[in-house]
Amino acid sequence: MLKKFNQFFHQSVNQIDMSFTPFILVVNGKILQVMQANDDNIPDLLVLEQQVYSGRTPWSQFSFATELRKRNNSLYLVVYHASNLVAFIGARFSPEETHITNIAVSPLYQHQHIGHYLMEMMINSARDNGSDCVTLEVRTDNEIAQRLYRSLGFTGNFIRKNYYQDTHTDAINMVLWLSHIKLEKKKFAF
Ligand SMILES: CC(C)(COP(=O)(O)OP(=O)(O)OC[C@H]1O[C@@H](n2cnc3c(N)ncnc32)[C@H](O)[C@@H]1OP(=O)(O)O)[C@@H](O)C(=O)NCCC(=O)NCCS
Repeated sequence: MLKKFNQFFHQSVNQIDMSFTPFILVVNGKILQVMQANDDNIPDLLVLEQQVYSGRTPWSQFSFATELRKRNNSLYLVVYHASNLVAFIGARFSPEETHITNIAVSPLYQHQHIGHYLMEMMINSARDNGSDCVTLEVRTDNEIAQRLYRSLGFTGNFIRKNYYQDTHTDAINMVLWLSHIKLEKKKFAF
């Protein structure tokens, strides 16, 4: 009886809040819309992947559809400039760990702190949901992404050999511990 009560209590305390209200973001004078992704966005997501991964789509139509359905513990956001998909980010939340599953910014919009902004949003959401840490995998040769993650406080954790099977590349698992860290809010003049 006590155990059952305990389980019930823990479930309610650790409830994950995946509610999201769309909003407008102004970046260098451009009005961008940040919204929760749905199946209608998948064709644009596949095009964005091709743009940033030299024609490849590491996530297929099926992978996106499967991930976007996990609305009870995952959050996928898309950023649009008019009808153009500018960026997206996804994360899976749990009390122990929030895992960033994917992030990409369209080449024309890169290096304008959009990636940093989206990562900060997910980190803050992880903190609000009581996660102990945020983790992610990044290709060992993806220096630009690693620089972004390190600028947010992520550190290398361990290597996953042959993680990306299409290219036979290793991944670094990176971690950001939240318990003792107060994320220093960078102020960008968008
Ligand atoms: C990684 C990625 C998401 C970064 O997005 P972004 O919006 O361009 O990143 P930001 O503008 O927020 O940059 C944050 C930091 O990343 C680094 N960075 C970003 N673009 C860079 C570039 N072209 N050259 C060097 N460093 C760069 C810088 O350290 C930068 O901080 P700074 O501007 O204060 O120096 C984007 O490059 C991308 O979509 N790449 C292809 C997909 C990918 O690799 N995804 C990650 C998979 S793990």
